Formats: sequence, C-alpha cells, structure tokens
Amino acid sequence: MATVVGNLSSPFLLSQLGNSRSCFLKLRPCATLSVFKRSFAAAIKVRAAASAAAVEVEPTEPIVVQNDGNSSNNILACPICYDPFSSSGDPGLSVESASGSSFHCSTCKKTYFGNETHIDLTTASGAKSYGESMPVITEMFRTPLISYLYERGWRQSFTGLIGLPGPEKEFEWTKNFLKPVLGGGNIIDASCGSGLFSRRFAKSGLFSLVVALDYSENMLKECYGFIQQEENFPTENIILVRADISRLPFATSSVDAVHAGAALHCWPSPSAAVAEISRVLRPGGVFVASTYILDGRFSLIPFLRNITRVTKQISGSQVFTSESEFEDLCQACGLVGFTKVRYGLFVMISATKPT
Ligand SMILES: C[S@@+](CC[C@H](N)C(=O)[O-])C[C@H]1O[C@@H](n2cnc3c(N)ncnc32)[C@H](O)[C@@H]1O
Repeated sequence: MATVVGNLSSPFLLSQLGNSRSCFLKLRPCATLSVFKRSFAAAIKVRAAASAAAVEVEPTEPIVVQNDGNSSNNILACPICYDPFSSSGDPGLSVESASGSSFHCSTCKKTYFGNETHIDLTTASGAKSYGESMPVITEMFRTPLISYLYERGWRQSFTGLIGLPGPEKEFEWTKNFLKPVLGGGNIIDASCGSGLFSRRFAKSGLFSLVVALDYSENMLKECYGFIQQEENFPTENIILVRADISRLPFATSSVDAVHAGAALHCWPSPSAAVAEISRVLRPGGVFVASTYILDGRFSLIPFLRNITRVTKQISGSQVFTSESEFEDLCQACGLVGFTKVRYGLFVMISATKPT
C-alpha cells in the first residue's frame, strides 16, 4: 500500500486527482514519504469535494505480501462445489483455447464447455429448459444492444453524469492499488463488460493470466471482438469466462488480484460478491473496485435511503450513500487494509486478504 502512497503523492496522480479542481495532499506530521517503504501498509483517505481533493496518509502495520511463486494459472474450479477441475480440454488457458475446450468436475459429474468466445462457468450452464432472470440492471447488460453500445459511447456518457475519471486515469489508479501483487500472478477482471480494463491488463504484461469475467455473454462477445480487431494482441495470457459474481468458478485462495471497474452497484448482492472475492483471493491478494457514491450534498435529499432502497428493488442497482459502507462491506467479508480514492462522485476502493 505504501507504493500507493508514493504514487498518490506523485505530481502525476495529484494532477489527475485534481484535474481542473484544486487539490491538496495532507500528510500526518510524523510521516514523511521516505518512511513509506514497499512493505508498509498505509491507510489512505482521499476526499474529493466538488472543488477540492484531500489525501490523508497513515502508516499502519507492515504487510508482507507473499508471492511464493505458486501463482498457478490453473485456477478454474467448478462453480457448484469449488473443486478444481479434474480435466480440461486444453491444458493451457488462452482466448484461442476456449473454443472446443471442456472442463470436467469429477465431484459433481458435470462438464462445462467453451464456445468460440468464452468458457461458460455459470452454475446453470448446460441446462436445457431451465431459465433464470437476474435483476433488471444485470439483464440490461446482457442485451446485444447495450453490450454493443457500451464502449461506443455508453460508458463515456457517465463521465459527465457521475464524473467517471476515464479509463486512462482509472487504470493508473488501479495499478497503484495493485502494486503489492504486480509481476507475474493472475488477475480476475470481474464484471469486465466488453473488456475495457481486461485488455489493458493483458497488454500491460503485469500479470501472467488475465481472466475477463462477466455474466453477460454479449459483453464477452464484444470483448472477444475487440481483442480480434487489435493487431499483436497478447491472446495467450487472457481468457474470457462467463460467471456470476456471487458464484466464482475459482479455487479457494488461488487468485492474486480481483479488479471490478464500475460494477459494485450492478451486483445483485454486493456482500455475496465481495464474500466470494474474499474466498478466492490468496492471503495478501488485493481487491480493487470502483463505483459512484451519493453523499455530500446528496445526503440533503429527503428520504434518500428510502429512494435508494426502492431503486434497488426496481432496478437491482445498489446506490451507496456513505463512504463508510465500503469499509464495512470489506470488513464484513473478511478483507483488511481498506483504502480509497475519491474523485467527485467516483470512488475507487481497495482491500486485502489477510496474510
Ligand atoms: C457498468 S458495467 C462495467 C464494465 C467495466 N468493468 C467497466 O469498467 O466499464 C457492469 C458490468 O457488470 C456486469 N454484471 C452485472 N451483474 C453481474 C453478475 N451477477 N455477475 C457478473 N457480472 C455482472 C454486467 O454484465 C456489466 O458488464
């Protein structure tokens, strides 16, 4: 986390945080940047109001990140029983190997299949007549139209609406939070949509395996299309997986990092999702997520809590109204070392699986 501090304090990030707004960095008097070595965790609080951003840094317990070299890429597991697959059609995981691949669970006696674009590891995969409807917001992202539009204007429109900083800045901030686990491990880009960040992770070479995961088969098709369009895309270190965030098809304690861009508010149950993320993260593994938050002047809206509850009931979209909710959520799901960065309504949070 100290590396996050170092980067937060860099002129680059400060300028990014501040953008056209004024920004100041507040360090505790006893803390100088030189004491923040890589092995120190730091609690970072960043508050951005409409006109200013404040950063507070508090050194805390040292965190020893254990990257024991066992960061296996054989992380796929049965979404029903979580046992690792006994056999797979192709021992190597890559976009190319998905088509025609099969993954067999000897406990559940069930085989999961890959198609041209992705491997379907939802619990109901293969069901012939059973159909399941998710909340409206999840179903909306499954439609071909929204999936097509997503990276062709849909997401950009939220830059103005809720002040998304934009993919470049978001990716830089994400990498800062991920510093303790960079260098050769695996990352799940959960609810990746059309792969805006999965593709960046794959091209960055910072991880040996990137799992682009989404519930929407059409989003995954878009992601596949974008990958195919790009020349010299490193297809050997990325796979596309269809799965429900509340039922992750990965072995327990097998994952180095989970990233979820602009997705927390889309999950049917954020607590079930974060609990699953906590289960699959290895000790020292890092969770980074972003979403938006209606606090500050929005808290003056009468009956805000009731409105957000009704919004959730109708659309399935969770509306967060205070920063403390995120820390609570992470703690409740067994994650520690909560940190966050704010940019207007946008919030990026991070927490770690205890070592
Ligand atoms: C707003 S998009 C975020 C896409 C991308 N991460 C980004 O930063 O632009 C939210 C994504 O969450 C996915 N999603 C919704 N419910 C899900 C669930 N239950 N499991 C997995 N993904 C889900 C949607 O399909 C959609 O692609």
